Formats: sequence, structure tokens, C-alpha cells
Amino acid sequence: MQMQDELFDTTPPHAAAIVESLRAFGYDLPTALADVVDNSISAGARHVWLRFDWDGAASVLSVTDDGHGMSAPELVEAMRLGTRGPLAERAPHDLGRFGLGLKTASLSQCRRLTVRSRRAGDTLETRCWDLDLIAAKNDWRLLRSADAHAEPNFARLATLPNGTTVLWQQLDRLTRGQDTQNEKHHQRFLERIEVVRRHLGMVFHRLMTGRDAVRILVNERPVEPWDPFMADHPATLPFSDELRTSIPRIPMRGFVLPHFSKLTKTQHEAGAGPRGWLAHQGFYVYRRDRLLVAGDWLGFGWTKDEHLKLARIAIELPNTLDHEWQINVTKSRATPPSALRDELKSFAATIRARAKNVYTHRGARLTPQAASAIVHLWAPVAKHDRVFYQINREHPLVKQIAETAPDKAAFGALLRLLQETIPLQHISIASTEKPDSQPEPFQDAADPEIREAMTQLYRVFRSMGHSPDEARRSLRSHSPFDAFPHLIATLEEQSA
Ligand SMILES: Nc1ncnc2c1ncn2[C@@H]1O[C@H](COP(=O)(O)OP(=O)(O)OP(=O)(O)O)[C@@H](O)[C@H]1O
Ligand SMILES: [Mg+2]
Repeated sequence: MQMQDELFDTTPPHAAAIVESLRAFGYDLPTALADVVDNSISAGARHVWLRFDWDGAASVLSVTDDGHGMSAPELVEAMRLGTRGPLAERAPHDLGRFGLGLKTASLSQCRRLTVRSRRAGDTLETRCWDLDLIAAKNDWRLLRSADAHAEPNFARLATLPNGTTVLWQQLDRLTRGQDTQNEKHHQRFLERIEVVRRHLGMVFHRLMTGRDAVRILVNERPVEPWDPFMADHPATLPFSDELRTSIPRIPMRGFVLPHFSKLTKTQHEAGAGPRGWLAHQGFYVYRRDRLLVAGDWLGFGWTKDEHLKLARIAIELPNTLDHEWQINVTKSRATPPSALRDELKSFAATIRARAKNVYTHRGARLTPQAASAIVHLWAPVAKHDRVFYQINREHPLVKQIAETAPDKAAFGALLRLLQETIPLQHISIASTEKPDSQPEPFQDAADPEIREAMTQLYRVFRSMGHSPDEARRSLRSHSPFDAFPHLIATLEEQSA
């Protein structure tokens, strides 16, 4: 005994101090609730009912499920911090990993967490963590009862043969200092409910469809699943491959979603997802059909770009690779092992190139070669990390006028001025505020107007010695006329 005392000191953490740090894992309300719902799904629930009850600063939130529930010893163990750690082996359907979620997610949002549960044929069991009590006693005292105000929140559980209710009281992050009578406060509370609803519909969308689907309801209204890939749309381009370097191999499926012109307004809005088209590009990392990451370029140094917003790539992780992929406690981040980066990047590069093509060419199925053969009037030029736009002096129309203009210097000056004064700032603000509002070239123009512009270029080709057929062919490779092949075909020699 003496010997041991010399070898080490036992220094358990101070309950009062550590309990506050536990609140700072980085959850927000939607990710915290998703972690609680994870547990319900792992417990085999077919229904998960979330209730948000508005009462100003005394508002409460609960999650009830009809999963297998817990016996008294199981419940006490479940309330322990780090009950089953990351090294414990897990059943394949288990969405848990750290043995923390129930506690860290809940206590990130509330100061009082009560769990009541029942296994089939067993009695209801209740346990409660109260942060103020832990702090006051500096001791991990797990209460065996709920407070009197809590009872109405367990009404549904009382009717179920088995299941669990997780109750959050003292929601200091959500409703501290809020007034029941204040309409603005109430409104904000309702808005947060909608954010949660959309987040859950996204994270669990796969688990919400099919034979063993779980039904999630928020204040009695079913949550709608959100599928990011529009795989059933005829204009979606699917790609698939797998990460061969990984053991086991990891399936990847890439999707280039349809150009906006091919979507109805409803489809376009649905495709935007909870955070919008721009944010939702990139990789989607699933772990046992539970979505961890919903659109991210995984630290490859690629920013989210307007032109790439049709690119979405699904990756399917088994729960045996959590460690390699550095799944975090809040289950909202994954970092691929460095050995897989090249493979991931090269698959993504294909999807990104195709997505850019579809975005710029109204969904015309151009091969990259064909796309690069198109002649444009404007050319982006990168200089010192900044992008400038130049008028292409080799464009046949520009070239011809430059050669034949009576005042060549004035024409040169005009081109220069056009280049120097593009209202870039205005355009970028407008496109950030309303990303899909920019018109395509000649979007609302009538055919005769387009034909008139086209004819001018046709004449240039003819004057260069092209035959009518050659001139029409050349028009097909000159933007934006490449998008109007039907008009090119109707160009008549006499009108031209
Ligand atoms: N709704 C529930 N129904 C049945 N058992 C539950 C429920 N919620 C939690 N448990 C039990 O409590 C344990 C601890 O849950 P907790 O979320 O803290 O950790 P975890 O799910 O194991 O891992 P993670 O930290 O990754 O979420 C679970 O492993 C499960 O056995
Ligand atoms: Mg969990």
C-alpha cells in the first residue's frame, strides 16, 4: 500500500469545475438534438417525438422515443460521463461512439437534464443531473427523481410499454432572460424549432425512409427527410467509385445536380437544403446512414464556389473507421486520413469539372474538351491572386472592328474602358444576396434579336472566306451562340 502511494497520486477532476467545461464541446441546438435522437435510433425506436414548450425563460424541451428503454442500472450507467469510450466495440447499427453524447449534448443547452426510461415489463426509472447541485456540492450526485414541474413532460412515456424521455430544463442557451409575453422572443423560439426540424430531416434522411424507417415528429408535425442528391431527377449526372486505399473500401457516389433551368421552382427550393445551394456543395460523409457532414471540401483548400454548387459527393463510412476519420464528439466533422486524400481529390476533381460545365452551359452535356473549344468574348485572367476580366481581342467580331474602325485608337480606348469599369462589386454583392438571379445571356430576348446579333458574327466569318456551312459551324463554337443551335440552323444566306 505504502509502495503504491509513492508511485502515484490519484487526482480525479473537480466535479464543479469540469462540469462547466463539458458544456463547451461546440454543439449548437440542432447538433445537440441530433445527438440525442442518435441514441433513440440506436435503441431501435420507430418514433421520436420532440416537444418544444414555450414558457419564456422557463421553456422546456423533450425528446421521447419508443425504443427499448433502460433498466435502473442501465440508466445510471447511461448517465455516467464516458460510459462506453471510443475503444469499446459497438454493434454495427449503434450510432454512438464516445459514451458522452447524452450528457454533453444535453448539458451544452440546459442546466438540468432528466432522463426517464422503461424497459418492457419493467418500472419507470428516473435520473437527473443538475449542474447547480454538482457545482454546489462539488460532487457527481445523480438525483433519483424529477422535479414537480417536470411531470407533464413524461405523459407520453407513461402510455408506452417501453421507451425513454430526455428532458431539458433551464435552457440557458436558448431562452435565458426571455419573456413569455414578448412576441419577438416567442417568434425567435419558433424559428429555432424550424431550424432543428430541417437539420434533423437532413441528418437522418436515409433512416427516415424504407422499411424500418423512423418517424421523427417535432411538436406533433412529422419531419420531412431531405435527400441532397436528386438522384431520381433525369438531369442529375451520377458517378460512382470507391476508395481503394481504404480497408474496408469506402464507396463514393458523386452527383452533378441539374442546372437550375431544368428544375421547377419547388425542386429548386427543395434542393437548396437547410443552408442553401452554395453551402451544400462538397462531400457528404455518412456513418451508418447517419449524415455527419453535409457539404464540405474536407480541408482540401477549395473554397465554396458559386460555379461548383451543383457538385455533391456521398461517402459511406462504416463505424469501424471513426478513429481514422477523426469523427468529433458533436458528430458534425470528419477528417479523412491523409493516405486517402489523393484518391478523394481526384474523384472530386471529376465531379467538380462536370458541375462547373453544367452550371455554365445550361446543362448542355459538353465534354470538357468541347467546353474548352468554345470561344468567349470575356476571358478571366488571374494576376497577383486577383481575377481580371479581359475582352478577347482575338474574338472575330472584335478583331474585325479593330481592323476596320475609322478611329482605331478610340475603339481601343473603348475596349480598355469596358474592361476597367466592369461593376464587379455590384455584381458580386447581387450574386451573393440572390445567387440564382443572374440572367443567362439573351435570357429574355426574342429570337429575332438573338438572330440579329448572330448574323453580325456570321457575316464576319463569311468575309473571312468561310462557306455558309463553315460559318454556321463556327457560330456553334462561339459563346453565347453555342446555346442556340436551333437558331443557327435557321440562319439564311440572304438574311445574313
Ligand atoms: N434513448 C435511449 N434509449 C435507450 N438507451 C439509451 C438512450 N439514450 C442513451 N442510452 C444509453 O446510454 C448510453 C450512453 O449514451 P451517450 O449518448 O452518452 O453515449 P453513446 O451513445 O454511447 O456515445 P456518443 O457519445 O457517441 O453518443 C448509450 O450507449 C445507450 O446505451
Ligand atoms: Mg449517443
